[in-house]
Amino acid sequence: MKIALGSDHAGFELKEDLRAYLAELKIEALDLGTYSEDSADYPDVAAKVAEKVARGEVARGLLICGTGIGMSIVANRFAGVRAALCHDLYTARISREHNNANILALGGRLIGKGLAREILKVWMETEFQGGRHERRIRKIAALEGKTGK
Ligand code: RB5
Repeated sequence: MKIALGSDHAGFELKEDLRAYLAELKIEALDLGTYSEDSADYPDVAAKVAEKVARGEVARGLLICGTGIGMSIVANRFAGVRAALCHDLYTARISREHNNANILALGGRLIGKGLAREILKVWMETEFQGGRHERRIRKIAALEGKTGK
């Protein structure tokens, strides 16, 4: 399973650590930036990762900004993307089991590297449960592109 990852400047340090961790886990990773701590706009990087997931070019995505909020807002604008902002092991597990999340968003200014590594491992290893959750995922897909008008 291949994962694309990206961060802005606020998530850069954690992205670097998690990229090394993915290598330890022998998970193929595609790093789409940013590549330094210079200021970078989170929508640009979130769009790159979300596009890869939406097109099916990678199975999963990992996005890190200061809070994870901006990254998840942007990623969820792409059809077929279900980005989950997780802060703990419970949200990481349930976002896979119930929501079939295909992008994990993390807040680099909120969680430490140890917890982030555990969240990522649980999120990568947990399977979607299907069943009643499948019906709900289909309902999300049916709402894609709605404008409210
Ligand atoms: C950057 O200062 C910060 O706004 C960004 O990393 C993120 O937290 C946005 O949601």
